[in-house]
Amino acid sequence: MKNLKKLIPLAIAGVALASVLTAGNPSTIKVRPFGKDRNGEEVTAYTLTNAKGMKVEIINYGGIVTRIYAPDRNGKLADVVLGYENIEKYIEATPYFGALIGRVGNRIDKGEFELDGEKYTLVRNNFPTEEGCHLHGGTYGFDKVLWKSQPYISGNEASLKLWYTSVDGEEGYPGTLKVKVIYTLTNKNELKIQYFAETDKATPVNLTNHSYFNLRGEGNGDILGHVLMLNADNMTPVDAGLIPTGEITPVEGTPFDFTTPTAIGARVNQEDEQLKFGLGYDHNWVLNKGEGGMTLAASVYEPESGRFMEVFTEEPGIQFYGGNFLDGTNIGKKGIPYEYRTGFCLETQHFPDSINQPNFPSTVLRPGEKYETTTIYKFSTK
Ligand code: BGC
Repeated sequence: MKNLKKLIPLAIAGVALASVLTAGNPSTIKVRPFGKDRNGEEVTAYTLTNAKGMKVEIINYGGIVTRIYAPDRNGKLADVVLGYENIEKYIEATPYFGALIGRVGNRIDKGEFELDGEKYTLVRNNFPTEEGCHLHGGTYGFDKVLWKSQPYISGNEASLKLWYTSVDGEEGYPGTLKVKVIYTLTNKNELKIQYFAETDKATPVNLTNHSYFNLRGEGNGDILGHVLMLNADNMTPVDAGLIPTGEITPVEGTPFDFTTPTAIGARVNQEDEQLKFGLGYDHNWVLNKGEGGMTLAASVYEPESGRFMEVFTEEPGIQFYGGNFLDGTNIGKKGIPYEYRTGFCLETQHFPDSINQPNFPSTVLRPGEKYETTTIYKFSTK
């Protein structure tokens, strides 16, 4: 934490770019202004660089991961996440590029639930069917708020701490929820995300990150050739509104079986009711957890660049979303439109609509309890 002292005066003095460097430690954090949010508040971008030269840029608006520069098999860096070059575009329209998602990630049927005998109605902001549902925390979820932020270098690794208080009634949720997220870029080329929360009244909580990856580099074509492994023998099928039916079904013999690494595009257009509902892959897989704890959830290999990404998590589920709603209307950082299926998300999570599904692991957080969960995206090459 002693590096912080150096950083703060530089930032306050209005220097556009400040950097932190510890003696003998190549991890750095660069700080730069990133414009203003819709309330005129200053947004800041932090670039974390590790000992190997990998870089991750995060802004404190929405906790959005705006850039991840990962090496290919020849050591050449490319930005492997979709996103925008300025705050205006994030404010105008984004399908949650890179953002922290909460209070509850994924869908809640009709935005309604009952907890401790009380009925709650959340904002309905997503309409796969006319009835609609609550998606990713509502109209102004955690992806669209300004987080307090503090960069620091500890144990030779660069971190960004973000924290936010979601007030009682925000988007319809009960209780004041204090949330903290720590992003760390380790020297093993891992982006580690630690999530913490506490509440003063029982509330559902399900935090995740919504980065869209393209391991060929953002804006460089579709993701159908990426070879995906999901460590999951089961999934939670959905109805036409993308709400889980409550069943947990085996993936074996279906296009949802990624237990053996398979190209994303290999079966995505097969005749299958679940693929029809999702317009492709947009489902929750039930992770094989064994003893539980931190386990490998997924891996993705991109054969041309050799980039390989592994996802480890403590969460019981993962939403694999294949970018089916991307349609070229979002223009990316390089000025290239993000077309159909040019990015994919691997959102570690509790299962969708858990608050209405008694047989799914609970998402309820109660006063006195501590919500704590970690997910790691690890980059290497083959
Ligand atoms: C959901 C998709 C949704 C997307 C937002 C994903 O997490 O599963 O259905 O369209 O987020 O663009």
